[in-house]
Amino acid sequence: MTYSQPGVPAAGKPAAEEFDFGVVHDRSQFGSAKWANQWDEFSPRVEGEGLISLWTADMDFRAPEPVIARLREAVNHGIYGYTKRDLRHYEIVKSWFERRHNWDVDMATLLPAPAIMPSVAAILRTFTQPGDGVIVQAPVYSPYFQVVRDNNRTLLINRLRLVEGDYELDLDDFERLAANGARAFLLCNPHNPAGKAWTREELESLDSLCERYGILVISDDIHCDIRLNDRPHVVFSTIGEGAAAKSFICTAPTKTFNLAGVPSATLSVADSKRREELFRVMQASFMVNANFFGRIALEVAYTSGDQWLDHLTPYIRNNVNLVLSWAAESLPGISPIRPDASFLVWLDAREVDAKVGGVHRFFVERAGVNLYDGRVYGPGGEGFIRLNVGCPRSVLEEALARMASALSPL
Ligand SMILES: Cc1ncc(COP(=O)(O)O)c(C=O)c1O
Repeated sequence: MTYSQPGVPAAGKPAAEEFDFGVVHDRSQFGSAKWANQWDEFSPRVEGEGLISLWTADMDFRAPEPVIARLREAVNHGIYGYTKRDLRHYEIVKSWFERRHNWDVDMATLLPAPAIMPSVAAILRTFTQPGDGVIVQAPVYSPYFQVVRDNNRTLLINRLRLVEGDYELDLDDFERLAANGARAFLLCNPHNPAGKAWTREELESLDSLCERYGILVISDDIHCDIRLNDRPHVVFSTIGEGAAAKSFICTAPTKTFNLAGVPSATLSVADSKRREELFRVMQASFMVNANFFGRIALEVAYTSGDQWLDHLTPYIRNNVNLVLSWAAESLPGISPIRPDASFLVWLDAREVDAKVGGVHRFFVERAGVNLYDGRVYGPGGEGFIRLNVGCPRSVLEEALARMASALSPL
């Protein structure tokens, strides 16, 4: 079987128009957190009339048609009992990573998981002790702070350095933390919020520090599939035997195919002792039963979603380009960072933030656009905002136009 290259629609396949990324869907009727502008009942609601919601990381696109069709069949079948991930399930996962990322993952290393963050929590609880240090690289996806703190581990923040619009590792600071009681490192690869794809060299430098200080690496690869340039996804465990032995690779199709509400994930743990131990702990927490719809969605997406993803990718790339050109021409004081991967654009809005006393609020109140407040991403996120471009172009254009007119009197 031949597959198209990521981002390049194969010849003779349906045209992009057959994929409905431009269609605006009303998501309110099914309890969308994004469009309610509220994560859950405990988090503050962002109030505003007619807000355009481009904050939390799900997309406003329908999943690939084969996924919808199979889920529809399953819904119509009407019996939603216990379900099993069999050998074929793992073959499907393996095949996906082989053809999309050149990762020849050993099937024996794979473990079932409900989603990424519960897995990260289980790994931390299994292989670190209360009080142990866990390194995270800020600014970063905020549940990383929560998963460390709420499991009574010590949060060690390694600030990334923003150099000429690109994030770089601060290896000296990483080493200082490594030498000060770190037991684990939670790697975000590619990195959310800036969509930074770490290179092999960068991962090797991190690996050698982790090797020296006996640090386990939990790699969250949830954003790995949407590639916006030719920089490949480097799976941490592929950089060497030492890296494989110390790492837990966490993967899911949920960001790629917009399936966050029907989650299912897969871990790869090369060290057999740790794999068995983790599986035992996950079983003890009753985490290994598959979600009926999640299993189906994963299998169909990883089997039949290539074409959809190959059309989604240029759509997202064009949305990113649109943000960059609007910023250059009509959003004074806003500098977007071009992502390598994902559907998220991290905007450096520090100038505007300083002027208006809170850029997130400013855009909610003056533009009716709800982006993610950069402060949520921890140190280094102040004055930034994250724009989710996983939406129809017309919605993005409207949001950018509103932002431009809110900025014009400043
Ligand atoms: C980097 C990263 N990891 C994990 C998640 C959530 O994963 P899950 O819903 O599988 O726990 C997100 C969602 O935005 C994310 O951006």
